[in-house]
Amino acid sequence: MHPALTLRIKSAPMLLLACLFFGSLRLPAFAEAPVTLVHAKTFDILDGKFLLDGKPLQIISGEMHYARIPEAYWRHRLRMAKACGLNAITTYVFWNVQEPEKGKFNFKGEADIAKFVRMAQEEGLWVLLRPGPYVCAEWDFGGFPYWLLNEKGMKLRSRDERFLQYVERYLRELGKQLAPLQVTHGGPILMVQAENEYGSYGKDMVYMGRIRAALLEAGFSIPLFTADGGQQMAAGHFPGLLPGLNGGSGPDIKETIDRYYLGGPYFVPEYYPGWLDHWGEPKSKVGAAGVVRSTERMLTSDISFNYYMFHGGTNFGFTNGANFGGNYQPDLTSYDYDAPLDEAGRATPKYLQLRETLQKHLPPGAQLPAIPPANPIIAVPRFELKEAGSLFGALPRPILSEQIKSMEEVGQDYGFILYRTTLQGPLQGKLLLKDLRDYAVVLLNGKRIGLLDRRRKTPPLTVDLPAGKATLDILVENCGRINYGSLLTDNHKGITDSVRIGERMLTGWEIYPLPFKTTAHLPFDGKQTDGPTLRRGHFALSKVGDTFLDMRGWFKGVVWINGHNLGRFWQIGPQQTLYAPGCWLKPGENEVMVLDLAPNGQRSIEGLTEPILTELHPEEALHKSRPAPAVLPAPRPEERIVEGEFTRNDGPQDVRFGAQTGRYLCFQALTSYEGDYASAAELYLLDAAGKPLSRDNWTIYYADSEEASQEDGSADNLLDDDTATIWHSVWSRPHPSLPHFVVIDLGKETAFSGLRYVARPGDKPAKTRKFALYVSATPFTGGK
Ligand code: GLA
Repeated sequence: MHPALTLRIKSAPMLLLACLFFGSLRLPAFAEAPVTLVHAKTFDILDGKFLLDGKPLQIISGEMHYARIPEAYWRHRLRMAKACGLNAITTYVFWNVQEPEKGKFNFKGEADIAKFVRMAQEEGLWVLLRPGPYVCAEWDFGGFPYWLLNEKGMKLRSRDERFLQYVERYLRELGKQLAPLQVTHGGPILMVQAENEYGSYGKDMVYMGRIRAALLEAGFSIPLFTADGGQQMAAGHFPGLLPGLNGGSGPDIKETIDRYYLGGPYFVPEYYPGWLDHWGEPKSKVGAAGVVRSTERMLTSDISFNYYMFHGGTNFGFTNGANFGGNYQPDLTSYDYDAPLDEAGRATPKYLQLRETLQKHLPPGAQLPAIPPANPIIAVPRFELKEAGSLFGALPRPILSEQIKSMEEVGQDYGFILYRTTLQGPLQGKLLLKDLRDYAVVLLNGKRIGLLDRRRKTPPLTVDLPAGKATLDILVENCGRINYGSLLTDNHKGITDSVRIGERMLTGWEIYPLPFKTTAHLPFDGKQTDGPTLRRGHFALSKVGDTFLDMRGWFKGVVWINGHNLGRFWQIGPQQTLYAPGCWLKPGENEVMVLDLAPNGQRSIEGLTEPILTELHPEEALHKSRPAPAVLPAPRPEERIVEGEFTRNDGPQDVRFGAQTGRYLCFQALTSYEGDYASAAELYLLDAAGKPLSRDNWTIYYADSEEASQEDGSADNLLDDDTATIWHSVWSRPHPSLPHFVVIDLGKETAFSGLRYVARPGDKPAKTRKFALYVSATPFTGGK
């Protein structure tokens, strides 16, 4: 039986009374808002309509997430939604917020979802609830708690009994909080979503049936719905549940839904007025005009919808997720999402246009409430972070383990983890991490030897150890668990399997979990290294307000303000500022702490009144992935071997010259056949017989320009035996002109008598024409 029917029978007498007493006084249905009256209402799906107390209701909702907004700002954001003309808000429930450790539930403070829902009612908004168990949402692990990964062989999002038992327990606990807030009990919750876009992941209806049953068993008796994209609805919808169409905006919404639920109601659980963003990629932008047009179309065709996101907020702390579009793509700290309400809850032009549109559709005489004043925004004059300390200055007690263990295996959810072992030299070879999740700082005897970035599959570092003992430290950052797609289950963090140098497997590890649950213990011992460094500073305020901390000039790390973890910063952008909510600041002295993984001398910060979310600096990452040499290479004429010109042809071109020896090679592109750029696919050195030398120990020592935003133009591609990947100097932004050069470390003194150059394939710009080649025993430091 269709769940809505059961609902009607249970509460008829009360309802009748209420309608008789209240009904006649009210405005027509779609503007009807919940009030903090506790009497129960009916909410049905009948004859293609949502019926609230028997009256049609068009749901005009906006998505905002309690966990992405400081609790003190929940009411402000809800009022902004109401003033825009929304009659409902939609929120996910994040399982990993509510049950951060197995069996330990948390519904307090920022995790008090029931408080958020009640507050929505107080502000005259209905609520659509999306408890998952999986929610996607650019949130770590799609909302799943990390400890699920320790259940060996357990299949997520399946009829795996172990998994379902954990799901049922979570939903039961959630039901205790939220079932009493259903509209049928006098609360604001109208509907509940089962799973999330399951059709994009599987089509096991037994599993979906168990999710439905678990929701009912948890006490949710109001209508349930599913949410899928048009192509995935066939697999994801569940008979009897209302199928919502994500991404719908066009005329085909009804047609698509009719295939599974003839006659509707027609509901779009996610209409996108903005979009998500990844580190190292251009910021998304969605034009307001199109959003207004779609809104009008849906409003006038009796389609209910939810703006995903109406207000994105922030992935504070370590809560961001990641995608994997052929490459690991961590999500930004800012979840501004180009949404109508910006990260600080301010009305954007898009918000104002939507408000105007929604105002127009109100019944004659009805008026939207005034837009509440924005929270104060302040500038904070630049202040210095004078105190410093090495992160390794106060490490917790280590976990001793012969083999490498992932973060989850040592019971750690988020943050950083340090792997330390002692090496016995002489030892030479490539340092191979299987697998790096996700970003590493590698130090030998406390000296940084390299940075490794899963995003870019940075090639392995070469370790060259003389005789004697040495300490190898690998600090790994969990940059966010994948929240969507087939790799959802492959989400362990830290180093997941093993570390080798050449053939030698490294064992005997001290493992230091660094979740940064608190900052109280952090060491400011004044020690400064080129390794992961903490800095602390203070600024005084007479008036508090929101501000945006400008992190430009810092490299990559995390910021805390008065103990609140604001999230990650990364110089590559596009995000360059961190949102600091005024409710976490105080009049008088405020404290800022920064962990920077590879400090480059920046020691001050200022608070801006506007965020910077569109400034990409991708090449910074590349240069920094090989620490910029203290002395930048400057090849001298006497070190030049040859100068020449290549043809434009594809395939290898050999240049032979007299015998040469040296450890560092500099290839300089002087001119190109087309465009003020340089490129090459492969570079080899030839022996006296013209045979290519082994490149096993070769690494890129330095490159003055590498495109990284619009394509992977890393110089590492010169050494990967793949002519489809190329070194390409920066082209997608204003850039220095030719010549451009790359310095290759051959690993040891090497004899050679020729160069083999392979051009980028095809009729493409930037093919190198004139070139020069240099060799030296030093990295072209002119003996400095
Ligand atoms: C999907 C998911 C959402 C979110 C959006 C992209 O539709 O359901 O949780 O990930 O994509 O922002």
